[in-house]
Amino acid sequence: MSYELVIKGATVISAADTFVADLAVEHGKIAALGRIEPNGSRVVDARGCVAVPGGIDVHTHFDMPFMGATTADDFTSGSTGAVFGGTTTVVDFAIQKRGESLKKALDTWHEKAEGKSAVDYAFHMIVVDLPEKRVKEMDDLVKEGISSFKLFMAYPGIFMSDDATIFRALTRTKENGGMICMHAENGGVIDVLVKKALAEGKIEPKYHALTRPMSAEAEATRRAIALSDMAGVPIYFVHLSAGDAMAEVRRARERGQAVFAETCPQYLYLSYEDYERPGFEGAKFVMSPPLRPRGNEERLWKGLVRNDLQVVSTDHCSFCMKATPSKPGKELGKKDFSKIPNGAPGVETRMLLLWDAVSQGRLTPNRFVDVTSTTPAKLFGLYPRKGHLSPGADADIVLIDPKKKTTFSAKTHHTAADYNPYEGKTVAGAIRDVFIRGEHMVGGGRMTGRASHGSFLKRAPRSGH
Ligand code: URP
Ligand code: ZN
Ligand code: ZN
Repeated sequence: MSYELVIKGATVISAADTFVADLAVEHGKIAALGRIEPNGSRVVDARGCVAVPGGIDVHTHFDMPFMGATTADDFTSGSTGAVFGGTTTVVDFAIQKRGESLKKALDTWHEKAEGKSAVDYAFHMIVVDLPEKRVKEMDDLVKEGISSFKLFMAYPGIFMSDDATIFRALTRTKENGGMICMHAENGGVIDVLVKKALAEGKIEPKYHALTRPMSAEAEATRRAIALSDMAGVPIYFVHLSAGDAMAEVRRARERGQAVFAETCPQYLYLSYEDYERPGFEGAKFVMSPPLRPRGNEERLWKGLVRNDLQVVSTDHCSFCMKATPSKPGKELGKKDFSKIPNGAPGVETRMLLLWDAVSQGRLTPNRFVDVTSTTPAKLFGLYPRKGHLSPGADADIVLIDPKKKTTFSAKTHHTAADYNPYEGKTVAGAIRDVFIRGEHMVGGGRMTGRASHGSFLKRAPRSGH
């Protein structure tokens, strides 16, 4: 039999197994695995490489207006960074404006993304305005493939929801199979601490971290777990940063509650010390939750290994350090840390940062696949189409050359951010080839596929709801 494409001799890694096999691709899907005779098929020699399912980053912000700025990356540049970094699917956040219907917000994000993404994409919905009369709009969204909703316990006056709203949203997901994704930080307490710091003349970037203590994250995590328990539904914590918040997740899981959490590479690799870089440099790392004191990351690594944390996403939310008249950036907060747009780039570096952890023996190759692709696909309604390399799944295949090394730099990355949080860092492995639904997207360090190849993915509701 002749296939469109046969990838020969890769070490194929799944969340469970590692084996050497050929992969056959037909009509954008994996057609077969095993020993496959090319018989005239196009052949890619992958001996010496590992083949992993395309990365799934379930937390990106492309073309997002926030804190008086708009992210440096739109869907074109953000998805280009993604594909060069071995991520083939992103789940981005659409945002409801106050007084706006969820459907209108979704239409806005469809317009931002359509025809502009190299990678496949889906949306969560950030809900900021959910009176009783609007709750049923959540059901319509789930039917349209938007099966998760982000709520905030931080950012009073912008995004923050009160407990009643959170409980209302959680309760509705029992009916419609949605999943609530929670930004867990106690926004009220943080607001008081920020005002106090500013009144004392503390304006530098490091005060962003010093006014957002770990206990503010742990408290909100505990409260949200209690609310989801009362509603009798699962909950997912986004960008979990603090070991104490993770301990709350662990305890809830041990009690048998369906609680899930993601962390992000910045919380595994960077720390509070980065805020103390000279001048305004610390602004590069202003994000919420903030980077934590050294030592915290060891707790997160352990949690990742023993499944207290199930996913590594990026919270890619890039703002440039140097502002241009059309694109204000981090400089908005030069005289007041609370005005620095929150967020940092990450979509391009996630896969290799985590692969480096494999080469260092921190994670098994199978756990790498699990947290970067398989579990995100399962938790967010993309499995079995995405998240594994098995017959019938989309042929989203990443070939990593484990013998090579990669050095991260803003000079060579592909997102529009004017800095790289990991500038100069060298990691094990290089992304050699990327395929999305069988199309060769990246190879030889160049984009070989169409910049608009990505298509919208309708996600399934939670199974068993
Ligand atoms: O600082 C961050 N994380 N910015 C993006 C918004 C969010 O809370 O995810
Ligand atoms: Zn958040
Ligand atoms: Zn985010």
